[in-house]
Amino acid sequence: MNCDKMDVFEAIKGRRSIRNYEDRPVEHEKIGMLLEACRWSPSAGNRQPWEVVIVDDPVTIEKLAHASLDQMWMKTAPLILAMCLNEKIARSTFGDRGEMYALETMGMAVQNIMLAAHSLGLGSCCVSAFEEEEVKYILKCLEIIKPVALITIGYTRNKPPAPFREEISVFTYYNSYAEQHRPSWIGVTKVGKRMRNKLVDSLKKC
Ligand SMILES: Cc1cc2nc3c(=O)[nH]c(=O)nc-3n(C[C@H](O)[C@H](O)[C@H](O)COP(=O)(O)O)c2cc1C
Repeated sequence: MNCDKMDVFEAIKGRRSIRNYEDRPVEHEKIGMLLEACRWSPSAGNRQPWEVVIVDDPVTIEKLAHASLDQMWMKTAPLILAMCLNEKIARSTFGDRGEMYALETMGMAVQNIMLAAHSLGLGSCCVSAFEEEEVKYILKCLEIIKPVALITIGYTRNKPPAPFREEISVFTYYNSYAEQHRPSWIGVTKVGKRMRNKLVDSLKKC
């Protein structure tokens, strides 16, 4: 088993959503490492509200694909990690903002797993477009368990090219939303300037 790890920035930029996998299982050692990556994710108040259902049964994977609005490509994945939120833990913490904290926490755990998968030579895709009640039924979840993401994992058959990303200047502001100044290291582009000026104009009208 090749468990060489890569630089974190290389993993962040090189990871892609993979929707076509080779017909070979993921080694148990690697599944263990993915769960370890989940375990060390940050969580609000360190409450660790995640629960993970490891699914490698092809029949269950097919049912999950149907429950995911018939995303039948999911059937090519030999493994799905169903990321579930224990709402009892989530609700008992942080009052009104607890729900947001819980979803932020789950997103971080999902990302940790996907980056770890990439660094282990595996492809993955986060699937959240699914019928929640159907997934709960398939996975036999208790009432307090909320599935939030199905991470398909396996050896990549085809890696797609990197999809479009906005320039940094499109989504960054400096000290406040009203600040037009751009330090040169952010690299303002024409698109970025246009978007920013539009926003500043709309703020002036408020
Ligand atoms: C919360 C969330 C839900 C997603 N749900 C799906 C999904 O249901 N099906 C799917 O094929 N991809 C899904 N994706 C993957 C995105 O389409 C993908 O991340 C995006 O197109 C950018 O491509 P990249 O991941 O290769 O950079 C989801 C991603 C996120 C973060």
